[in-house]
Parts: sequence; structure tokens; C-alpha cells
Amino acid sequence: MPKATEGSVLKAETRPEQRAETLRFGILGCGVIGPHHARAIAGLDGAELVAVADTSVVRAETLAGEHGCSSFPNLQEMLSGADLDAVCVCTPSGMHAEHAIAALEAGKHVVIEKPVDVTLRAAGRLLAAQRATGNKAAVVSQHRFDASTLAVHDAVSGGRFGRLTTRTVAVRWWRSQSYYDSGGWRGTWELDGGGVLINQAIHSIDLLQWLMGPVVEVTAHTGLLAHERVQVEDTAVAILKFQGGALGTIVATTAAYPGLTARITVNGDRGSAVIGDDELSTSTPPASRRKQTPTVAAKTRLRRYWRSVAWTGRDPVRAPILAVSRWRIGTR
Ligand SMILES: NC(=O)c1ccc[n+]([C@@H]2O[C@H](COP(=O)([O-])OP(=O)(O)OC[C@H]3O[C@@H](n4cnc5c(N)ncnc54)[C@H](O)[C@@H]3O)[C@@H](O)[C@H]2O)c1
Repeated sequence: MPKATEGSVLKAETRPEQRAETLRFGILGCGVIGPHHARAIAGLDGAELVAVADTSVVRAETLAGEHGCSSFPNLQEMLSGADLDAVCVCTPSGMHAEHAIAALEAGKHVVIEKPVDVTLRAAGRLLAAQRATGNKAAVVSQHRFDASTLAVHDAVSGGRFGRLTTRTVAVRWWRSQSYYDSGGWRGTWELDGGGVLINQAIHSIDLLQWLMGPVVEVTAHTGLLAHERVQVEDTAVAILKFQGGALGTIVATTAAYPGLTARITVNGDRGSAVIGDDELSTSTPPASRRKQTPTVAAKTRLRRYWRSVAWTGRDPVRAPILAVSRWRIGTR
């Protein structure tokens, strides 16, 4: 795969739809999310899953068996034993930068699960390694590619909602105690980096900022209200002031049994939109709707994602790094 330096744009004749080359992926971390990456890669033209690795040999071998690829007990052995172009980093959040930097320095591109890591310092180290190596580093923000998000983004940036006045995020989910007990890293400051804000509501908060611009002031309260053996918050509320004067709120919880919706609203003096569970439920004036089945939507998102990352020279690690700085304001 040709390398693009930061800010460079590959010439039109090398765009992906005209290339026959196959990207060879390895996946590090075969827990909950690793198998989703495996299925997404299997569904893409021009991508092949070559290897997986996990310190749990059983998980690595099981996923490798399902996809007919090699398995390894750790990253170093996968990097030296498999011929890879890119590594998907699907390990606990506080390990992301360390693993991604090792892969970048071994000459691989990296797709890193959200969040980029759990501290700005780690994110800075990752950015420095990406710049030094010239390889690509992308952080997963898959909901930026939902048809609903793109329609609202078009409407906001085209000024169709007029002057933006209020924006809200409400993520009312349920995570059982057994969820937090299922991995030693969950609910810890060191490896989860925070609670509902950085783990579950991260997608909606990312969209809130991507759709409506930067937040300049935050007032927040957090609480651990319905779980045990957890260091971090399971509930948070925040009042936001955006650049430009609009006001907003965040309500995020993993303590709303049995689990309700994730909803984003955008209000302006000429129009409003509501995105509920990734679907555009209300938009006045109407935003364009692109109907897709969930499978097609997921494939399209990943394809668009890789195009934007691998072929335009965009620096995709920046936005999530900025987002990390916002979350930290409200949670500690
Ligand atoms: N984009 C999304 O919507 C989404 C959804 C779920 C999880 N995630 C993110 O994916 C990451 C993983 O979450 P998960 O729910 O799959 O966790 P998980 O605990 O189910 O899986 C993590 C895996 O990493 C393995 N592992 C731990 N340390 C390792 C090491 N040093 N080397 C190799 N393997 C190691 C563990 O054995 C485990 O199998 C988290 O950062 C999470 O935030 C993203």
C-alpha cells in the first residue's frame, strides 16, 4: 500500500476503486469488538484477514478458526509471523496507544478502536509516532458515517437550520453488573479511562461536536449510582456552552434499566432534527434520507472510513484527540 504523508493527497489514478491490491489485516484483541472487525473485513472487496492475536489463546484460535487465518498469542509474534499491511487495535482502551505505536513502528497502518486512548499524553505519543512513520492511524467513530448523521451534517453546514440554538445528547442505556465484572479493565480509570462518558456515550458526544462545533464551557455532575466494584461514573449530566453561543446538555447513563434510547437533537431558529438510535426520526426542513439495510450501512461506513483515511491523506487521529480533552473536563 503506498504511503501518504500528512496532508498529502494521493493522485486520482491511485484511488481505491481502480486498484487491484488487497489490504492484509491483522486484528489484535478478539473479545467483543474484534470479531466485528473480522466480519467487516470479510465483507469488503480488497481486504483480507490474515491473522488475529490475543493473550487469550482460546479467543484467538476461535476467531482464527472462524475466518481461516493464523492466530498468535501477542502483537509482537503477529507482527513478525504474518505479512500485514494494517492492524486493527481492539484491546482495552488504556492499551490502544502502546499497541498502535508498536504496529506503526513495525511499518503497519492502524485502525484503533475508540477511544484513541485514555489520556491526552498517550494520544500525543500516538500522533507523534504516526507523523514520524508516515503510516496511517485511524480511530473508529463509525457513527459519523450513518446516513442520518450525514444528512444532519449536510443540513447544519448548509445553514438549513438557521442559527443553532440548542443541542442535546441523551444516552439512557443499561449495563448489568456482570458486564462490568466481565473484564478486569472495565470501569477502571487506568484502562477504561472513565465510565459512561468515555465508553458508551462517546459516539453521541463525538457526533454532538462534529455536527455542532466545539464546546467552550462545561458544567457537570457525575455519579456511580447503580453498580459496584467500579471506579468510574455510571451516570453523568452536563450543561454545555458551544462556540457561537448555543447551549446544550448531555445526559448519559448505563443505569437506566432495561436500556432505552440514544438520542441527539439539534435545534435552530429555522429547523430541527432528532436522531434516535442512529435513525433520523424528525427533520424540519426535511434532510435527505438515504435508505440502507444495516449490513449495507455497516459495509458502506467501513469502506468510506478507509477511503477517507487511507486515500485522502486526512489526519484522522485529531478529532478524537480533541474529543478526549472535552470528556476529561467533565469527569474528573
Ligand atoms: N466502536 C464501538 O462501537 C465499540 C464497541 C465495543 C468496544 N469498543 C472498544 O473496543 C475495545 C475493546 O473492547 P471489548 O468490549 O472488545 O473488550 P474485551 O475485553 O471483550 O476484549 C479485549 C480483548 O483484548 C485482549 N487483550 C488484553 N490485553 C491484550 C494484550 N496485551 N495483547 C493482546 N490481547 C490483549 C483480551 O484478552 C480480550 O480478548 C475497547 O477500547 C472498547 O472501547 C468499541
